[in-house]
Amino acid sequence: MDWLELHGDWLEEVRQRARDRLPEWFAEFTEAGAGDEITASGAAAAWDRLRLRPRILTDVSAVSTATTVLGTPVDTPILVAPTAMHLCAHPEGEAASAAGTAAAGSLFCLSTRSGRPMSQVAAAGGPWWAQVYVLRDRELTAGYVRRAAENGASALVLTADTPVPGRKPRWEALGVSPELPPGCVTANLVPDEPEPDPMAQLQAADLTPDVIGWLARISGLPIVVKGVLRGDDAVRCADAGADAVYVSNHGGRQLDGAVSTAVALPEVVAALAGSGVEVYADGGIRRGSHALRALALGARAVFLGRPVLWGLAAGGPDGVRDVLRTLTGELEHAMALAGAPTVAHLTPDLVHPIPGAVRPVPDMGV
Ligand SMILES: Cc1cc2nc3c(=O)[nH]c(=O)nc-3n(C[C@H](O)[C@H](O)[C@H](O)COP(=O)(O)O)c2cc1C
Repeated sequence: MDWLELHGDWLEEVRQRARDRLPEWFAEFTEAGAGDEITASGAAAAWDRLRLRPRILTDVSAVSTATTVLGTPVDTPILVAPTAMHLCAHPEGEAASAAGTAAAGSLFCLSTRSGRPMSQVAAAGGPWWAQVYVLRDRELTAGYVRRAAENGASALVLTADTPVPGRKPRWEALGVSPELPPGCVTANLVPDEPEPDPMAQLQAADLTPDVIGWLARISGLPIVVKGVLRGDDAVRCADAGADAVYVSNHGGRQLDGAVSTAVALPEVVAALAGSGVEVYADGGIRRGSHALRALALGARAVFLGRPVLWGLAAGGPDGVRDVLRTLTGELEHAMALAGAPTVAHLTPDLVHPIPGAVRPVPDMGV
């Protein structure tokens, strides 16, 4: 995006460009949080509240943001969260986002509610994971999961915080029922019957931890559980065979009033200390220094939701690439200033303790 100037508010400029190009309903749908938007509106500020304790006199002449997630190498720990309906933001939908993500050396997570076939995501050439909504129709879900494995997804991300969709009054107030581009939410769901029951495609509300083993068995892939906000739930997921947990409140789009991920992350990291289960986080990551805080608190990677959709709408694949690269550049800069030449040096002592907050054990920043 050659128009992008790297002044302080560059991401706000990308958001405005996206708004200018998107239909109003999709711009609002993207930004909306659930209920009174208490959780959604507080997400970035919760990272800001964590103050840093930079190290001095450390050699940061070479800084590397490279890491691995579940064994997959990535150039940046800033990854792409699953978001629905990319066809509403760009005519090439998820194929464009996956291409931009690959160009940034990041990892793309495909939503179940996607509009371009997985084969096009795979063709982008970068690593990718498939997010799974377990649907009322388990066979439909199983077909999606098996195709993800066949198409080269390297993990499944089970979204566990959506037994029912959260209500989003800001979006509902528009009162529109948008015409979606064909296949926008169903390109990767292939029903057996010619006229499937639309209710069968809704999220199942009866999931238990057993679903983790089921998904692992039918796909042969590692399982990441997304939507974890509590240490005890993280342990339940690990005990049921999860390879990673992903701290998220769904961008504040599910239970309004849910704790911010900046606050929940240390509890989850502490609960999983020594287990080998990786921890990721998302929600309100708008600055490289937000990513730095999350990694210092024990996240192995962070994910971006809305900023990627803004980049896609504003600049297609290049827009996605530039959002990821620019935030990664900010992270690199913040790492140098914090005295952390690699992500392994991002440890909890970099974050100033908040009285009463759970502290993660110091060896979980790697
Ligand atoms: C428009 C939109 C669509 C989303 N669709 C999905 C989805 O299909 N599956 C899912 O697990 N999460 C979905 N999410 C949640 C994101 O994966 C992520 O948790 C959240 O957006 C992160 O917060 P951020 O937008 O502040 O970065 C969606 C979020 C948005 C904004």
